[in-house]
Amino acid sequence: MKGVILHGGHGTRLRPLTHTGPKQLLPIANKPMSQYCIESLREAGVRDIVVIIGGIGANKVQEYYGSGEKFGVKLTYIQQDYPRGIAHAIRLCKEFIGNRKFLVFLGDNILKRNISDYAKDFQQSDAKASILLCKVTNPTQFGIADVKDGIIKKIMEKPENPPSNLAVTGIYFLTPVVFDIIDRLKPSERGELEITDALQMLLEEGHKITYHMVTDYWKDTGTPQDIVHANEVILKDMEPYFYGKKEEGASISGKVMIGENTTIKSGARIVGPLILGKNCVIGSGAYIGPNTSIGDDSNIAKCNIEDSIIMAGCTIDCDIKIRRSIISYNSEILQRKENGDNKVFLLGEGSKISL
Ligand code: TTP
Repeated sequence: MKGVILHGGHGTRLRPLTHTGPKQLLPIANKPMSQYCIESLREAGVRDIVVIIGGIGANKVQEYYGSGEKFGVKLTYIQQDYPRGIAHAIRLCKEFIGNRKFLVFLGDNILKRNISDYAKDFQQSDAKASILLCKVTNPTQFGIADVKDGIIKKIMEKPENPPSNLAVTGIYFLTPVVFDIIDRLKPSERGELEITDALQMLLEEGHKITYHMVTDYWKDTGTPQDIVHANEVILKDMEPYFYGKKEEGASISGKVMIGENTTIKSGARIVGPLILGKNCVIGSGAYIGPNTSIGDDSNIAKCNIEDSIIMAGCTIDCDIKIRRSIISYNSEILQRKENGDNKVFLLGEGSKISL
């Protein structure tokens, strides 16, 4: 079975983080979120994968993943000229897919469970599509499936009066019949070709769609708080390792993942679960608490951080509590005596500060 990863889209809800690159490259536990999708496909035996790219910084996707060899897969890239919808992006893969069954993974979906059984099941089934459903508490925000007696009756996008709380996750097992369906779709009110409309049309035309319930963790990481939450869940699941240096008088507790050449200085306190990348210096005035990821080459002198993502190359030397925050690459947060009580900001477009 071939695979498709959707790596385009607007990413508006994640601005300003998406002003410089696609959201799917934002790190969760120091790894781009789409890398989890690639690993998931690889584990399911799907090695021939097309990646749909588009929008700001699309070139960064190719720069990072290259041919895919380093990640144990073979990657082909197709450019989407504009985010015209998930179904539009899938339609671009028709030639690549040929006449076989295939698997689509949205590059911003994090699924903890291995999908091998679902893939095997679909290979053996006569269904034209299979989807993964997950119970959610806010069904008006998702594509929703109406299921009766184990049969999907209807699939709809963000219904005002949801008939169920079963969200359609961003992992779709499909057959090429969907391409003909997409060719006949009309854009939705928001001007996109919707995957939910394509699935609904499949049902209306008498094609069988099966489903599995996802009871493990699944997250569609559309917003900053979704990313912070996914970071917490992934960190809890990781195997600890320690390749750095701990000076005498540094305190380390809980599960920690510490990269090569990272130094934890005397007086620093770190409490897992957390991950520190390579070549970081954690100074004597630093407290780094649970559910935090710090990227490579960061210098954290004085700080008090929990539940946050600090990307590579950051410098923090400031006596403030940082919580549920995402700080992008090469940022600085410094305390300067000469500023007194004044705060000095140099913020890019769409930055968000909450004091
Ligand atoms: P969404 O999160 O629904 O849309 P978006 O990425 O445009 O984000 P926002 O709503 O914040 O502006 O997209 C789901 C996934 O599909 C995501 O991985 C991006 C991808 N996608 C494409 O590759 N092409 C598209 O045309 C669209 C709409 C999404």
